[in-house]
Amino acid sequence: MTESRWSRRSDVLRGQDYDQRWDRMAASGQNVHGEVDFLLSYQPESVLDAGCGTGRIAIELNRRGIHSVGVDLDRQMLEEAQRKAPHMVWCNEDLRDLELKSTFDIVVLAGNVMIFLEPGSELQVMQRLVRHVNNGGLLISGFSLQPEVLSLSRYDELVQHFGLSLAGRWGTWQRDPFDGGTYAVSVHRKTN
Ligand SMILES: C[S@@+](CC[C@H](N)C(=O)[O-])C[C@H]1O[C@@H](n2cnc3c(N)ncnc32)[C@H](O)[C@@H]1O
Repeated sequence: MTESRWSRRSDVLRGQDYDQRWDRMAASGQNVHGEVDFLLSYQPESVLDAGCGTGRIAIELNRRGIHSVGVDLDRQMLEEAQRKAPHMVWCNEDLRDLELKSTFDIVVLAGNVMIFLEPGSELQVMQRLVRHVNNGGLLISGFSLQPEVLSLSRYDELVQHFGLSLAGRWGTWQRDPFDGGTYAVSVHRKTN
């Protein structure tokens, strides 16, 4: 079995327990779909939710009429996605080996996926993900900036290595300006 930083963590919630946090936020009236609102501003027809977990983003995209596919290595997380949305396509695969038949307008890495990858696998994952972005399409990620795990400049290097260019950067999914803080949402465009 392949591993990730995520799979080795014993202190994180998985499956239904993971979703409870978001359910509580939704019940208290908070908008839990900031990522989806952000993605839809680019008017994609298709989105690959890379490291989809329990599918909270892919499912909401699907509900709003966008073709979306979820991929995750963690079986327990993906089983919850499958349980909630059995009509959708879910792939229990390692992003390092991803080879789908389709490409997408947007490939999104939300919820800190980049810092939960297996250390040293980032370049390989990026290579696979970029292959799944349509020409003219976008790679979008949001993660907490932990320089000892992955700095923003290293992330930019990884993406630019495959020819994508920075098209936007914010401090939140609500488009607060990025001020060098501890979280960044990055948008890179594939142009050839
Ligand atoms: C914090 S969860 C985020 C889940 C979801 N994106 C969200 O925002 O709710 C991080 C996810 O990244 C997945 N992940 C980490 N490395 C992976 C890899 N190499 N291949 C596929 N999924 C991976 C984990 O299994 C985990 O479900």
